[in-house]
Amino acid sequence: MKVTRVHNHEAMSAQAFSMVSALLEKRPEAVLALPTGSTPLEFYRQLVGSGLDLRRVRTFNLDEYLGLPGEHPGSYHAYMERYLFSQVNIAPDNIHLPNGMTPDPVAECLRYEEAIRAAGGVDMLILGLGHNGHIGFNEPGTPWSSRTRVVRLSPRTRRANARFFGSLAQVPREAITMGIATILEARQIIMLVSGPDKAETVDRFLNGPLAVDVPATALRSHPDVLVILDSAAASRVGNAIPS
Ligand code: GLP
Repeated sequence: MKVTRVHNHEAMSAQAFSMVSALLEKRPEAVLALPTGSTPLEFYRQLVGSGLDLRRVRTFNLDEYLGLPGEHPGSYHAYMERYLFSQVNIAPDNIHLPNGMTPDPVAECLRYEEAIRAAGGVDMLILGLGHNGHIGFNEPGTPWSSRTRVVRLSPRTRRANARFFGSLAQVPREAITMGIATILEARQIIMLVSGPDKAETVDRFLNGPLAVDVPATALRSHPDVLVILDSAAASRVGNAIPS
């Protein structure tokens, strides 16, 4: 695993953007796995602003809330539409997110895994870091063998995401997420982390023991991971990381 420290959120986003654009230059039909949350917003802004040709790219989102229709403004369907898909030339058929309104969540999770397999697997997976060390919606305690499935969100995660909803009560209690094993099958992984509120979690992720209670530590066993930290997120890890 490589870790790099950059000055700020914008530089973190720019580095992710340049890696995606280098990949797409070589392989315009690449399969990307994409995150939501505040962290990737500037990365999406740069991607949109670049005018990069995304016609052939294929995308799979990491997760989606269960029980929210795609039109609900708090859903990840709506987030992706707003910040990326409506502003680029990606083909609608190439966009994949778990269906949060499925009448059969177990079948939906199997379908999602199968769709990733049928696409040939994920070339580059971009993700953020939850305050409790979660990746996607894989909360502390998730086995590393986990695959796409329905999960219960921790109170901390629901509180952290309440800002995307009117109130905490409106945040769904469950979601569908790629599992940790699903994430680890991506050929390349880029983790983006910014802000001082993530500094302690970053320290546990990078320097603590490999442990299921910090799901992100699973990434340390993957052969091609780059963690891009802004200086605030890197503030607790000392000088061990090149800047
Ligand atoms: C959510 C998402 C994660 C994301 C995390 C951090 O829970 N499911 O994929 O990484 O939040 O979000 P933020 O970037 O807003 O801190």
